[in-house]
Amino acid sequence: MCGIVGAVRREEGVLGALIEGLRVLEYRGYDSSGVAVIKDGRMLVRKKEGRLENLEAALQDGALEGASIGIGHTRWATHGEPSDRNAHPHQGRSGRVALIHNGIFENYLELREELLADGVEFLSETDTEIVAHLIDREMAQGLSLPDAVRAALRRVQGHYAVAVIAEDEPETPLVCARQGPPLVVAATPNAAYLASDVLGLLPHTNKVVYLEDGDVAVLGAGTLQVTDFAGQKVEREEHQIDWKPGDSGLGGWPHYMLKEIHEQPDVLARTTLERMDLDKGDVVIEGGQFGNEAMRAVQRIQVLACGTALHAGMIGRYLIEGLARVPVDVDFASEFRYRNPVLTAGTMALAISQSGETADTLAATRLAKELGAQVACICNSAGSTQVREADEVLLTHAGPEIGVASTKAFTAQVAACVLLAIRLGRAKGTLSADRARELLHGLRNLREQIEHLLSEPVREHIRSLAKQHARAKGFFFLGRGVNFPVALEGALKLKEISYMHAEGYAAGEMKHGPIALIDPGMTIVAVNAPGVVADKVRSNIEQVKSRGGVALSVGSHQGSHKIAGQCIEVPETDEWLSPILNSIPLQLLSYYIADLRGCDIDKPRNLAKSVTVE
Ligand code: M6R
Repeated sequence: MCGIVGAVRREEGVLGALIEGLRVLEYRGYDSSGVAVIKDGRMLVRKKEGRLENLEAALQDGALEGASIGIGHTRWATHGEPSDRNAHPHQGRSGRVALIHNGIFENYLELREELLADGVEFLSETDTEIVAHLIDREMAQGLSLPDAVRAALRRVQGHYAVAVIAEDEPETPLVCARQGPPLVVAATPNAAYLASDVLGLLPHTNKVVYLEDGDVAVLGAGTLQVTDFAGQKVEREEHQIDWKPGDSGLGGWPHYMLKEIHEQPDVLARTTLERMDLDKGDVVIEGGQFGNEAMRAVQRIQVLACGTALHAGMIGRYLIEGLARVPVDVDFASEFRYRNPVLTAGTMALAISQSGETADTLAATRLAKELGAQVACICNSAGSTQVREADEVLLTHAGPEIGVASTKAFTAQVAACVLLAIRLGRAKGTLSADRARELLHGLRNLREQIEHLLSEPVREHIRSLAKQHARAKGFFFLGRGVNFPVALEGALKLKEISYMHAEGYAAGEMKHGPIALIDPGMTIVAVNAPGVVADKVRSNIEQVKSRGGVALSVGSHQGSHKIAGQCIEVPETDEWLSPILNSIPLQLLSYYIADLRGCDIDKPRNLAKSVTVE
């Protein structure tokens, strides 16, 4: 979704910081970008469709250099096509005000009518421009910039984060407000910064303030003041961020996705090792979270998530029901929130999210809370809204994930589900200490097993399979039991980054219809591990092979490998942990296929990293 940055500095030279911030936020996905600065008391704006390089080319004349106040934006189009004129910032009628925005102003049509009647001429098709005009109009009537922003925002409905600058406002150079999508602000001794994502602030400081819904922040060089929409001062805590600016760099890798796939041995260790109590055969979550009392009260779990995180939650269902005997429902967050759900007493809503800012997941979790659920979350972003609103928090510690296609965050989420299943099982007495210890030992061995999967010979083998299948007509990813969601995730990964049609399916369901699609042009990737459904999956592979499909078996089940003919051998582990290992070759297969097809792997078309609108 859109990226927002802003800076005000005592010394001149804010443009470099804005471009640097936009560069860091590029991973969120965008189709145009722009900046506005105030230099010598005049508003100067540049904006361009396409990549940041186009904007940088438009800045070559140096006209915006030397300004000490500015805002910058990467746009992900919602209202109006991607174009120079729809790119942000947008200006009000007088040209004094410039505004950038993430989100949607839902009542923009009626406000547009009102402004048209007032003689305003619109230069874009966006909902954003309306609010720039509203602020401009308030300032024309004598309000200061912060008061004008508050007054304008009281008129709009929707979800938004905005940042605004205005000429002739030396006391209040930079104002931002949040009602939905995230905004993070920080003041240093001689400057202040804002961004839609903490990564945008890390080049300047690791001490940040997360704005809450209904907050308006006024930033000056070295100062920061937060109020509500009525202008009343509110206190917001400062958070220290552990991530370092270098964590979000490529570090010599050709793509973030490949870098992040290779981080998984360390990530899995960070997610699990310090939480293991091997003596007791249990899991200990920091701060006494997920303690015995809270866990014993849980009668049912409602998982709420989207995309890859939903697949992790589906694996979590098998784990939690299998190990802790607690019934689990899993729902797309976007469906749960509109289906008038019924939650029974003792329900724990479990939100799973890498970013902690996904609009659908946040809304679904808030609804579950309203319906009386205790709220827990598995999340990768310590200061995110999801974390701040949860009663119980299990952080995945995967580090910043920049690649739009989620990889390390997914396996860390699955590992966190294993920890949660063990914790629940131990608290409820359904899981013995010995069985828990076996699983914990299994988790401990994953690091070495993943390192093997990422070794040169295995990668080369996967790359050669990718060459053979990169021109297939389509893909089916099949799995059963705990590896069924792995198949769904394998298909999602492939379509996201290679634009090939891929479907994930429960292997046992193929014969009920989709098997009609099988012919020699289709590649069938079957995920299997020794365990209760292993032989069933092998038979399902036989069924598709005998109809001409080309089968590739992934996992540690030798019988499946034999039937399929082609295979990726995965080290053997406990069946409950096999989704973590089986996912890794699927990530690499997608990566290599996308690379061979010349796709823009880290910035797949139409996708955004963090989906902060509905
Ligand atoms: O930040 P979240 O985990 O809440 O994001 C959820 C999905 O948008 C995300 O997993 C998406 O499906 C990824 N692009 C998958 O690779």
